[in-house]
Amino acid sequence: MSKIVTGFSKLTKEEKIKWLSKNYLTDVDKGISILKQYLNDDKILQQLHDEFIENTLTNFYIPYAIAPNFIINGKTYAVPMAIEESSVVAAASLVAKFWSTRGGFHAKVISTTKVGQVHFMYDGKFDKLNEYFNGIKSQLVLATDTLTGNMRKRGGGIIDIELRDRSSELDNYYQLHVTFETADSMGANFINSCLEAIASVFKNEDIHIVMSILSNYVPDCLVRAEVKCKVEDFFADHAEYYAQKFVQAVQIANVEPHRAVTHNKGIMNGIDAVVLATGNDFRAVAAGAHAYASRSGTYKSLTHAKIENGMFYFWIEIPLSLGTVGGLTKLHPLAKLSLEILQGPTAKELMEIIAVAGLAQNFAALKALTTTGIQHGHMKMHLMNILNQLEANLHEKEIIIKDLKGKTVSHNAVAEALHKLRTNREV
Ligand code: MEV
Repeated sequence: MSKIVTGFSKLTKEEKIKWLSKNYLTDVDKGISILKQYLNDDKILQQLHDEFIENTLTNFYIPYAIAPNFIINGKTYAVPMAIEESSVVAAASLVAKFWSTRGGFHAKVISTTKVGQVHFMYDGKFDKLNEYFNGIKSQLVLATDTLTGNMRKRGGGIIDIELRDRSSELDNYYQLHVTFETADSMGANFINSCLEAIASVFKNEDIHIVMSILSNYVPDCLVRAEVKCKVEDFFADHAEYYAQKFVQAVQIANVEPHRAVTHNKGIMNGIDAVVLATGNDFRAVAAGAHAYASRSGTYKSLTHAKIENGMFYFWIEIPLSLGTVGGLTKLHPLAKLSLEILQGPTAKELMEIIAVAGLAQNFAALKALTTTGIQHGHMKMHLMNILNQLEANLHEKEIIIKDLKGKTVSHNAVAEALHKLRTNREV
């Protein structure tokens, strides 16, 4: 039986589920009941979610939490996070508390420029192309006039259009490299619309447009967040030893890409969780962050640390293209609520908060790695997931959590402990 289907998107949700059941589910009743279990009873809310994408069958939950006690630039925040990884919110909360007694976090937006490009092919003399570009440049800007009107009122718009010759890397390849300020919006739709308007005026019989699209590489949409304290305040015992180990861990991530990828992944645990909770595009943020980490030609740490004159410094510099208006930010009720919890931040404030979330997450990981080891804290939360997987009841959970305290937690160890508990009880 062929599983190729035509006109699937036109079927009703019920029909889609029926088709899915017939073609892909072995236990149809169970499959359908899972899909239905995750639908929202509020029909209007469900419809809102249905319409975010095509072919929606149900909703896919991940936990939504807050990490309180973040002091950022003197203001206290409870930071909303949407993430499935068990230890991330616990780590963020601990770190927030830790730094709240050491002056808190300080963050500053360095720049907010976004980029879009019209990629095109031209088989001719560069001088002629350059002359054509200079002659038509003001018309290119004018072509976006109706699109940029609102944005200009909010302090945004097109910053510049540049002609770039890339023909030494790819025959006949040139681009219009356009820079934008998008104020409080992430600006993806705005940038893409402007680029298409520019391309339609720019093209002629010699200029063949290949594509017009924003870039998620935004090295000039940059934010810095930092913490600092006296080395002696870093830890109760052996503070200097542990502060030095911490700095070494960052240095290792700077020279060893295998470590840097994991190091930065930990940073993105914090970043993506807040990006997602605020209805922003975490794939765009992740792609841009990793590209920035490789800007020297080697993939490096996004964070930095040093000890100087008895002080410990730890900071992050990361490009973050975010919005607090437009897109899902005002459409998804939880994203809207997240922005309310964050006290209605501007896009710049959100950049600062999210950079702090990344720094905090990296701090938690490095502190654990250079002291007790990662499994200690990780497994405490992971244990609950294993217990849930094994369908332990509340009573069993309490006993096993107590029994395994301080011990190495593995799936086998938990399964064994649970088995023992159950068989003992049966005796
Ligand atoms: C796990 O999700 C993240 C860590 O591996 C990050 C790190 O190693 O720095 C703990």
